[in-house]
Amino acid sequence: MQGVYLESEKEKNVIAESMYEKLKAKLSHVVPDFELQHKAEIAEEIMRLKEERNAVILAHNYMEPALFYSVPDYVGDSLELSRKAAACDQDVIVFCGVRFMAETAKILSPEKTVLLPAKKAGCSLAASITAEDVRKLKAQFPGVPVVTYVNTYADVKAESDICCTSSNAAAVVESLGTDTVIFLPDEYLAKNTAKETGKHIVFPTRLPPGKFDSSLDYQMVGWQGRCEVHERFTVEDIENARRQFPDVLVLAHPECSPEVVEASDFAGSTTAMVKYVKEHKAEQYLILTECAMGDNIAAENPDKEMLRMCSIRCPHMNEITLEDTRDALRENRYVIEVPEEIRVKAYRAVKRMIEISAKD
Ligand code: 13P
Ligand code: SF4
Repeated sequence: MQGVYLESEKEKNVIAESMYEKLKAKLSHVVPDFELQHKAEIAEEIMRLKEERNAVILAHNYMEPALFYSVPDYVGDSLELSRKAAACDQDVIVFCGVRFMAETAKILSPEKTVLLPAKKAGCSLAASITAEDVRKLKAQFPGVPVVTYVNTYADVKAESDICCTSSNAAAVVESLGTDTVIFLPDEYLAKNTAKETGKHIVFPTRLPPGKFDSSLDYQMVGWQGRCEVHERFTVEDIENARRQFPDVLVLAHPECSPEVVEASDFAGSTTAMVKYVKEHKAEQYLILTECAMGDNIAAENPDKEMLRMCSIRCPHMNEITLEDTRDALRENRYVIEVPEEIRVKAYRAVKRMIEISAKD
Protein backbone atom coordinates (compact mmCIF):
# COMPACT_ATOMS: atom_id res chain seq x y z
CA MET A 1 0.00 0.00 0.00
CA GLN A 2 2.81 2.31 1.02
CA GLY A 3 4.65 1.46 -2.22
CA VAL A 4 1.64 2.56 -4.30
CA TYR A 5 1.46 5.79 -2.34
CA LEU A 6 5.16 6.50 -2.89
CA GLU A 7 4.84 5.69 -6.57
CA SER A 8 1.93 8.09 -7.04
CA GLU A 9 3.77 10.77 -5.06
CA LYS A 10 6.72 10.29 -7.40
CA GLU A 11 4.42 10.52 -10.40
CA LYS A 12 2.85 13.65 -8.98
CA ASN A 13 6.28 15.22 -8.63
CA VAL A 14 7.21 14.38 -12.20
CA ILE A 15 3.94 15.86 -13.50
CA ALA A 16 4.33 18.98 -11.34
CA GLU A 17 7.86 19.31 -12.66
CA SER A 18 6.59 19.33 -16.27
CA MET A 19 3.96 21.97 -15.42
CA TYR A 20 6.72 24.00 -13.78
CA GLU A 21 8.83 23.70 -16.95
CA LYS A 22 5.85 24.79 -19.06
CA LEU A 23 5.24 27.84 -16.88
CA LYS A 24 8.94 28.65 -16.71
CA ALA A 25 9.25 28.63 -20.49
CA LYS A 26 6.53 31.29 -20.72
CA LEU A 27 6.91 33.29 -17.53
CA SER A 28 10.49 33.17 -16.25
CA HIS A 29 10.92 36.86 -17.16
CA VAL A 30 7.55 37.88 -15.67
CA VAL A 31 7.00 35.78 -12.50
CA PRO A 32 9.66 34.91 -9.83
CA ASP A 33 10.82 31.28 -9.79
CA PHE A 34 9.63 30.36 -6.26
CA GLU A 35 6.15 31.59 -7.19
CA LEU A 36 6.19 29.50 -10.37
CA GLN A 37 7.08 26.33 -8.43
CA HIS A 38 4.24 26.91 -5.99
CA LYS A 39 1.74 27.65 -8.76
CA ALA A 40 2.86 24.64 -10.82
CA GLU A 41 1.91 22.29 -7.96
CA ILE A 42 -1.55 23.78 -7.68
CA ALA A 43 -1.99 23.77 -11.45
CA GLU A 44 -1.12 20.08 -11.55
CA GLU A 45 -3.76 19.28 -8.99
CA ILE A 46 -6.28 21.21 -11.07
CA MET A 47 -5.35 19.18 -14.15
CA ARG A 48 -6.03 15.94 -12.25
CA LEU A 49 -9.36 17.21 -10.91
CA LYS A 50 -10.30 18.48 -14.34
CA GLU A 51 -9.90 15.00 -15.79
CA GLU A 52 -11.69 13.31 -12.91
CA ARG A 53 -14.70 15.58 -13.30
CA ASN A 54 -14.70 15.78 -17.11
CA ALA A 55 -14.41 19.56 -16.89
CA VAL A 56 -13.33 22.27 -19.30
CA ILE A 57 -11.70 25.47 -18.04
CA LEU A 58 -12.49 28.73 -19.87
CA ALA A 59 -10.40 31.72 -18.82
CA HIS A 60 -10.72 35.39 -19.66
CA ASN A 61 -7.68 37.30 -20.97
CA TYR A 62 -7.49 39.17 -17.63
CA MET A 63 -6.52 36.13 -15.57
CA GLU A 64 -3.18 36.37 -13.80
CA PRO A 65 -0.28 34.87 -15.82
CA ALA A 66 0.29 31.64 -13.84
CA LEU A 67 -3.38 30.76 -14.19
CA PHE A 68 -3.66 32.01 -17.77
CA TYR A 69 -0.72 29.91 -18.98
CA SER A 70 -1.36 26.69 -17.04
CA VAL A 71 -4.81 25.12 -16.69
CA PRO A 72 -7.28 26.69 -19.19
CA ASP A 73 -8.44 24.73 -22.21
CA TYR A 74 -9.41 28.01 -23.85
CA VAL A 75 -8.57 31.65 -23.18
CA GLY A 76 -10.08 34.67 -24.87
CA ASP A 77 -12.40 37.67 -24.80
CA SER A 78 -16.10 37.54 -23.91
CA LEU A 79 -17.26 36.63 -27.40
CA GLU A 80 -14.70 33.87 -27.92
CA LEU A 81 -15.46 32.33 -24.53
CA SER A 82 -19.22 32.44 -25.19
CA ARG A 83 -18.64 30.53 -28.40
CA LYS A 84 -16.57 27.92 -26.55
CA ALA A 85 -19.19 27.62 -23.79
CA ALA A 86 -21.83 26.93 -26.42
CA ALA A 87 -19.74 24.31 -28.22
CA CYS A 88 -17.90 22.32 -25.53
CA ASP A 89 -19.09 18.83 -24.59
CA GLN A 90 -17.64 18.27 -21.10
CA ASP A 91 -19.95 17.82 -18.07
CA VAL A 92 -18.55 20.79 -16.14
CA ILE A 93 -17.48 24.29 -17.21
CA VAL A 94 -15.19 26.13 -14.80
CA PHE A 95 -15.34 29.80 -15.75
CA CYS A 96 -12.27 31.79 -14.71
CA GLY A 97 -13.80 35.21 -15.22
CA VAL A 98 -16.62 37.17 -13.62
CA ARG A 99 -20.20 36.18 -12.79
CA PHE A 100 -21.90 37.59 -15.89
CA MET A 101 -19.54 35.51 -18.05
CA ALA A 102 -20.27 32.31 -16.11
CA GLU A 103 -23.99 33.09 -16.35
CA THR A 104 -23.67 33.49 -20.12
CA ALA A 105 -22.05 30.03 -20.23
CA LYS A 106 -25.00 28.60 -18.26
CA ILE A 107 -27.49 30.36 -20.57
CA LEU A 108 -25.80 28.71 -23.56
CA SER A 109 -25.17 25.30 -21.98
CA PRO A 110 -27.94 24.70 -19.41
CA GLU A 111 -27.33 20.96 -19.15
CA LYS A 112 -23.80 21.52 -17.83
CA THR A 113 -22.64 22.31 -14.32
CA VAL A 114 -21.09 25.79 -14.52
CA LEU A 115 -18.71 26.76 -11.73
CA LEU A 116 -17.40 30.23 -10.90
CA PRO A 117 -14.34 29.96 -8.63
CA ALA A 118 -15.32 33.03 -6.56
CA LYS A 119 -18.53 33.66 -4.65
CA LYS A 120 -19.18 37.11 -6.09
CA ALA A 121 -16.81 38.31 -8.85
CA GLY A 122 -19.23 41.04 -9.96
CA CYS A 123 -18.81 43.88 -12.47
CA SER A 124 -19.72 47.57 -12.11
CA LEU A 125 -21.42 47.51 -15.53
CA ALA A 126 -23.57 44.50 -14.72
CA ALA A 127 -24.50 46.16 -11.40
CA SER A 128 -25.52 49.40 -13.13
CA ILE A 129 -28.86 48.22 -14.54
CA THR A 130 -31.83 46.03 -13.56
CA ALA A 131 -34.45 44.20 -15.62
CA GLU A 132 -37.01 46.71 -14.32
CA ASP A 133 -34.88 49.58 -15.73
CA VAL A 134 -34.98 47.90 -19.14
CA ARG A 135 -38.75 47.36 -18.96
CA LYS A 136 -39.22 51.07 -18.18
CA LEU A 137 -37.07 52.08 -21.16
CA LYS A 138 -39.03 49.74 -23.43
CA ALA A 139 -42.25 51.37 -22.24
CA GLN A 140 -40.77 54.81 -22.94
CA PHE A 141 -39.56 53.81 -26.43
CA PRO A 142 -42.11 51.25 -27.64
CA GLY A 143 -40.97 49.03 -30.50
CA VAL A 144 -37.33 50.17 -30.32
CA PRO A 145 -34.98 47.12 -30.22
CA VAL A 146 -32.77 46.67 -27.17
CA VAL A 147 -29.07 45.84 -27.60
CA THR A 148 -27.46 44.76 -24.33
CA TYR A 149 -23.75 44.45 -23.65
CA VAL A 150 -22.92 40.94 -22.36
CA ASN A 151 -21.61 42.62 -19.19
CA THR A 152 -25.10 42.31 -17.66
CA TYR A 153 -26.96 39.69 -15.63
CA ALA A 154 -29.30 37.10 -17.11
CA ASP A 155 -32.55 38.91 -16.22
CA VAL A 156 -31.37 42.03 -18.09
CA LYS A 157 -30.35 39.92 -21.11
CA ALA A 158 -33.80 38.33 -20.95
CA GLU A 159 -35.41 41.75 -21.57
CA SER A 160 -33.18 42.35 -24.61
CA ASP A 161 -33.50 41.60 -28.30
CA ILE A 162 -29.83 40.95 -28.85
CA CYS A 163 -26.54 41.06 -26.93
CA CYS A 164 -23.19 42.40 -28.04
CA THR A 165 -19.60 42.37 -26.84
CA SER A 166 -16.81 44.90 -27.25
CA SER A 167 -15.71 43.09 -30.41
CA ASN A 168 -19.02 43.22 -32.28
CA ALA A 169 -21.04 46.18 -30.89
CA ALA A 170 -21.08 48.18 -34.14
CA ALA A 171 -21.88 45.11 -36.26
CA VAL A 172 -24.75 44.17 -33.94
CA VAL A 173 -26.23 47.70 -34.02
CA GLU A 174 -25.97 47.81 -37.80
CA SER A 175 -27.42 44.33 -38.22
CA LEU A 176 -30.74 45.54 -36.83
CA GLY A 177 -31.35 47.91 -39.72
CA THR A 178 -33.69 50.07 -37.61
CA ASP A 179 -33.80 53.86 -37.26
CA THR A 180 -33.28 53.70 -33.49
CA VAL A 181 -31.79 51.27 -30.94
CA ILE A 182 -31.62 51.23 -27.16
CA PHE A 183 -28.01 50.38 -26.24
CA LEU A 184 -27.33 49.32 -22.61
CA PRO A 185 -25.73 49.78 -20.13
CA ASP A 186 -22.20 51.07 -20.89
CA GLU A 187 -22.26 54.81 -21.56
CA TYR A 188 -18.78 54.82 -23.08
CA LEU A 189 -19.18 51.73 -25.25
CA ALA A 190 -22.46 53.25 -26.45
CA LYS A 191 -20.80 56.57 -27.29
CA ASN A 192 -17.87 54.82 -29.02
CA THR A 193 -20.30 52.66 -30.99
CA ALA A 194 -22.42 55.70 -31.91
CA LYS A 195 -19.29 57.37 -33.22
CA GLU A 196 -18.21 54.31 -35.19
CA THR A 197 -21.63 53.88 -36.80
CA GLY A 198 -22.23 57.62 -37.32
CA LYS A 199 -25.30 57.64 -35.05
CA HIS A 200 -26.49 60.32 -32.69
CA ILE A 201 -26.95 59.14 -29.10
CA VAL A 202 -29.08 60.54 -26.26
CA PHE A 203 -29.21 59.66 -22.56
CA PRO A 204 -32.81 60.25 -21.48
CA THR A 205 -32.00 59.21 -17.89
CA ARG A 206 -29.86 62.33 -17.53
CA LEU A 207 -32.89 64.60 -18.12
CA PRO A 208 -35.46 65.50 -15.47
CA PRO A 209 -38.45 63.11 -15.57
CA GLY A 210 -40.89 63.98 -18.34
CA LYS A 211 -38.42 66.35 -20.04
CA PHE A 212 -37.31 63.97 -22.78
CA ASP A 213 -38.16 65.40 -26.19
CA SER A 214 -38.84 62.41 -28.42
CA SER A 215 -38.62 64.57 -31.53
CA LEU A 216 -34.87 64.99 -30.95
CA ASP A 217 -32.70 63.68 -33.75
CA TYR A 218 -31.27 60.54 -32.15
CA GLN A 219 -30.63 56.99 -33.34
CA MET A 220 -29.29 55.47 -30.12
CA VAL A 221 -30.64 55.65 -26.58
CA GLY A 222 -28.01 55.04 -23.90
CA TRP A 223 -27.69 54.33 -20.17
CA GLN A 224 -25.25 55.70 -17.61
CA GLY A 225 -23.34 52.52 -16.60
CA ARG A 226 -19.55 52.60 -16.56
CA CYS A 227 -16.69 50.19 -16.06
CA GLU A 228 -15.00 51.20 -12.82
CA VAL A 229 -11.61 50.32 -14.34
CA HIS A 230 -11.73 51.84 -17.82
CA GLU A 231 -13.49 55.05 -16.78
CA ARG A 232 -10.36 55.95 -14.79
CA PHE A 233 -7.95 56.21 -17.73
CA THR A 234 -7.56 59.78 -18.94
CA VAL A 235 -6.21 61.66 -21.95
CA GLU A 236 -3.65 63.14 -19.57
CA ASP A 237 -2.35 59.63 -18.80
CA ILE A 238 -1.81 59.11 -22.52
CA GLU A 239 -0.09 62.50 -22.95
CA ASN A 240 2.22 61.77 -20.01
CA ALA A 241 3.11 58.36 -21.43
CA ARG A 242 3.79 59.82 -24.88
CA ARG A 243 6.04 62.50 -23.37
CA GLN A 244 8.11 59.89 -21.57
CA PHE A 245 8.00 57.24 -24.35
CA PRO A 246 7.62 59.13 -27.66
CA ASP A 247 7.33 55.94 -29.77
CA VAL A 248 4.81 54.15 -27.57
CA LEU A 249 1.64 52.74 -29.19
CA VAL A 250 -1.43 53.24 -27.00
CA LEU A 251 -4.20 50.61 -26.93
CA ALA A 252 -7.54 51.31 -25.26
CA HIS A 253 -10.55 49.10 -24.54
CA PRO A 254 -13.84 50.55 -25.94
CA GLU A 255 -15.12 50.78 -22.34
CA CYS A 256 -12.78 53.82 -22.06
CA SER A 257 -14.20 57.29 -22.70
CA PRO A 258 -14.46 58.45 -26.36
CA GLU A 259 -11.76 61.07 -25.60
CA VAL A 260 -9.35 58.34 -24.45
CA VAL A 261 -10.22 56.16 -27.44
CA GLU A 262 -9.65 59.14 -29.74
CA ALA A 263 -6.24 59.86 -28.18
CA SER A 264 -5.16 56.20 -28.53
CA ASP A 265 -3.63 54.45 -31.54
CA PHE A 266 -6.06 51.54 -31.37
CA ALA A 267 -9.22 50.48 -29.57
CA GLY A 268 -10.61 46.97 -29.46
CA SER A 269 -11.63 43.98 -27.37
CA THR A 270 -9.09 42.31 -25.12
CA THR A 271 -8.25 39.73 -27.79
CA ALA A 272 -8.03 42.44 -30.45
CA MET A 273 -5.40 44.15 -28.27
CA VAL A 274 -3.45 40.90 -27.89
CA LYS A 275 -3.45 40.48 -31.69
CA TYR A 276 -2.49 44.11 -32.28
CA VAL A 277 0.70 43.80 -30.21
CA LYS A 278 1.59 40.52 -31.89
CA GLU A 279 1.18 42.02 -35.35
CA HIS A 280 3.03 45.30 -34.78
CA LYS A 281 6.74 45.91 -34.73
CA ALA A 282 6.89 48.78 -32.21
CA GLU A 283 8.93 48.11 -29.07
CA GLN A 284 6.66 49.80 -26.50
CA TYR A 285 2.89 49.56 -25.89
CA LEU A 286 0.71 51.18 -23.26
CA ILE A 287 -2.41 49.09 -22.64
CA LEU A 288 -5.35 50.85 -21.04
CA THR A 289 -7.12 47.86 -19.53
CA GLU A 290 -6.72 45.44 -16.60
CA CYS A 291 -3.03 45.25 -15.85
CA ALA A 292 -2.71 41.43 -15.62
CA MET A 293 -3.31 41.30 -19.36
CA GLY A 294 -0.08 43.24 -19.84
CA ASP A 295 1.83 40.40 -18.13
CA ASN A 296 0.14 37.84 -20.37
CA ILE A 297 1.02 39.80 -23.52
CA ALA A 298 4.57 40.40 -22.28
CA ALA A 299 4.98 36.64 -21.80
CA GLU A 300 4.13 36.03 -25.46
CA ASN A 301 6.22 38.95 -26.74
CA PRO A 302 9.52 38.95 -24.82
CA ASP A 303 11.05 41.40 -27.30
CA LYS A 304 8.33 44.03 -26.60
CA GLU A 305 7.80 46.24 -23.58
CA MET A 306 4.30 46.47 -22.12
CA LEU A 307 3.63 49.65 -20.15
CA ARG A 308 0.60 49.51 -17.88
CA MET A 309 -1.03 51.34 -15.02
CA CYS A 310 -1.34 48.70 -12.34
CA SER A 311 -2.77 51.04 -9.71
CA ILE A 312 -6.01 50.64 -11.67
CA ARG A 313 -7.22 47.05 -11.27
CA CYS A 314 -10.44 45.12 -11.76
CA PRO A 315 -11.17 43.87 -8.23
CA HIS A 316 -13.71 41.39 -9.61
CA MET A 317 -11.49 39.62 -12.12
CA ASN A 318 -8.77 39.56 -9.49
CA GLU A 319 -10.95 37.49 -7.20
CA ILE A 320 -10.17 34.44 -9.34
CA THR A 321 -6.99 32.60 -8.37
CA LEU A 322 -5.46 29.19 -9.08
CA GLU A 323 -6.27 28.18 -5.50
CA ASP A 324 -9.94 29.10 -5.97
CA THR A 325 -10.03 27.25 -9.28
CA ARG A 326 -8.71 24.11 -7.57
CA ASP A 327 -11.25 24.51 -4.75
CA ALA A 328 -14.06 25.06 -7.25
CA LEU A 329 -13.38 21.61 -8.73
CA ARG A 330 -12.71 19.96 -5.37
CA GLU A 331 -15.81 21.34 -3.64
CA ASN A 332 -18.09 21.82 -6.68
CA ARG A 333 -18.47 25.54 -6.09
CA TYR A 334 -19.85 28.07 -6.82
CA VAL A 335 -22.60 26.58 -8.95
CA ILE A 336 -24.21 29.08 -11.34
CA GLU A 337 -27.96 28.73 -11.77
CA VAL A 338 -30.28 30.75 -14.00
CA PRO A 339 -34.07 30.30 -13.63
CA GLU A 340 -35.34 28.52 -16.75
CA GLU A 341 -37.91 31.15 -17.78
CA ILE A 342 -35.18 33.84 -17.69
CA ARG A 343 -32.61 31.59 -19.33
CA VAL A 344 -34.83 30.80 -22.31
CA LYS A 345 -35.40 34.51 -23.03
CA ALA A 346 -31.75 35.45 -22.42
CA TYR A 347 -30.66 32.57 -24.69
CA ARG A 348 -32.44 34.15 -27.66
CA ALA A 349 -30.51 37.41 -27.22
CA VAL A 350 -27.11 35.74 -26.74
CA LYS A 351 -27.64 33.19 -29.53
CA ARG A 352 -28.67 35.92 -31.96
CA MET A 353 -25.42 37.77 -31.21
CA ILE A 354 -23.32 34.64 -31.75
CA GLU A 355 -25.06 33.96 -35.07
CA ILE A 356 -24.39 37.50 -36.30
CA SER A 357 -20.74 37.34 -35.26
CA ALA A 358 -20.31 33.94 -36.91
CA LYS A 359 -20.89 35.68 -40.26
CA ASP A 360 -17.87 38.02 -39.66
P1 13P B 1 -13.71 41.73 -23.69
O1 13P B 1 -14.96 41.15 -24.24
O2 13P B 1 -13.06 42.72 -24.62
O3 13P B 1 -12.77 40.65 -23.25
O4 13P B 1 -14.08 42.62 -22.41
C1 13P B 1 -14.64 42.12 -21.26
C2 13P B 1 -14.48 43.05 -20.14
O5 13P B 1 -15.10 42.89 -19.11
C3 13P B 1 -13.58 44.17 -20.31
O6 13P B 1 -13.46 44.87 -19.14
FE1 SF4 C 1 -16.54 44.74 -15.34
FE2 SF4 C 1 -14.75 46.62 -15.84
FE3 SF4 C 1 -14.04 44.51 -14.42
FE4 SF4 C 1 -14.52 44.26 -17.06
S1 SF4 C 1 -12.89 45.44 -16.09
S2 SF4 C 1 -15.25 42.91 -15.44
S3 SF4 C 1 -16.20 45.74 -17.31
S4 SF4 C 1 -15.54 46.06 -13.83
